[in-house]
Amino acid sequence: MGHAGRVLWSGPLVMLFAVVTLAEAADTNLRAQASALFASLPRDLGTAENPVTPERVHLGRLLFFDPRVSADGAVSCARCHQPALYGTDALPTSIGAEHRTHPRHAQTVFNAAVQFVQHWRGDRTSVEDLSVKSLIAPLAYGNPSFASAMAKLKAIPGYAPLFAAAFPREEDPITPDNWGKAIGSYMRTLLTPAPFDAFLQGDDRALTTVAQTGLRTFIRTGCATCHNGVGVGGTMYQKFGLMEDYWRATGSPIVDKGRFDVTQDPADLHVFKVASLRNVAMTPPYFHDGSVATLPEAVRIMARVQLGRTLTAGEVTEIVAFLESLTGPSPADFVTAPILPPGAVASPPTR
Ligand code: HEC
Ligand code: HEC
Repeated sequence: MGHAGRVLWSGPLVMLFAVVTLAEAADTNLRAQASALFASLPRDLGTAENPVTPERVHLGRLLFFDPRVSADGAVSCARCHQPALYGTDALPTSIGAEHRTHPRHAQTVFNAAVQFVQHWRGDRTSVEDLSVKSLIAPLAYGNPSFASAMAKLKAIPGYAPLFAAAFPREEDPITPDNWGKAIGSYMRTLLTPAPFDAFLQGDDRALTTVAQTGLRTFIRTGCATCHNGVGVGGTMYQKFGLMEDYWRATGSPIVDKGRFDVTQDPADLHVFKVASLRNVAMTPPYFHDGSVATLPEAVRIMARVQLGRTLTAGEVTEIVAFLESLTGPSPADFVTAPILPPGAVASPPTR
């Protein structure tokens, strides 16, 4: 009985001690858990095949901002991926050459190159592939042929020496392939290390307490089974709407068949790339058709349609706080537009 009395007396102290050590253990544990699921961003994403060189990045940056290569002279990458809007256009769905409406929402270009494929449906293999194909895509640059696109580039004298410097020892370096490699090289530098990266690297104070709780909730709820890796997404395809039709939750006016339209495989119906969540707080509206305006709403919908879970208001707030820790500063050579080499088409641009 004396024993029980001692426990009664010391109980609160023991508990306090236990809570403190548990909290500390949880922090180390949280980093270990997070490090097993995610990774921090590297310095750049150059590869042997697609190296990042200063000459290519410089040229790629100019090309990214140049509208003169498009069918109507109004479309550049930057039209739909704007510096002032964190590399997006903030529209539900983008507008391409000759005002044609794209069926899907433009994601940010930041950190895009970390993903296993590009675009919502994975119909582009790399940032290089994407850049080349957008030259003749009716919903992007809208050129009738690569030849007409290259003719527009060659009409601007300032580009020849820049292509020659970026692709030395090539006889005629102004090619669609090199356009893709230069812009791709630039894309591979547009990385935005965030507080979450600092946390992964050991800085406890990089994440607020609520963001750490949110990270725990994100993992415990099952979000990280799909959103994982260095991009916190961008590592796999999944059906959008595992527990119920996605469009009932998003109110999407048009039902997109997703990857099915790329592969014609019935197993790919309504399958999309799991979105990277880096900078997600800066890039509304959400989902492949921009059908949802706010991040808390997107988080609630995800829990509902992918996991069959109804999150409490508190859980949504925590998860959003964690997602905000994935916002990194905009890269310095993206915030401002470069001055382009002069040159104009004499008559209205021809297709
Ligand atoms: C007309 C607007 C428009 C133009 C011009 C445009 N994009 Fe996009 N971009 C989009 C849209 C819309 C998507 C999503 C397309 C899809 O999934 O079908 C996208 C997707 C991307 C992605 C993939 C991101 C991800 O998370 O998968 C990258 C990278 C990108 N664009 C880079 C570029 C570059 C580089 C250029 C210039 C060569 C360019 N874009 C031109 C609208 C545009
Ligand atoms: C079964 C896989 C899966 C799970 C689990 C999952 N997601 Fe997703 N998530 C996706 C897919 C696929 C998309 C792209 C959907 C589309 O086509 O728009 C996506 C998109 C998102 C988006 C929109 C990103 C953007 O840029 O528009 C957010 C935000 C998001 N998920 C957060 C979460 C959160 C938070 C959880 C946990 C509650 C979660 N996801 C669980 C697969 C998943």
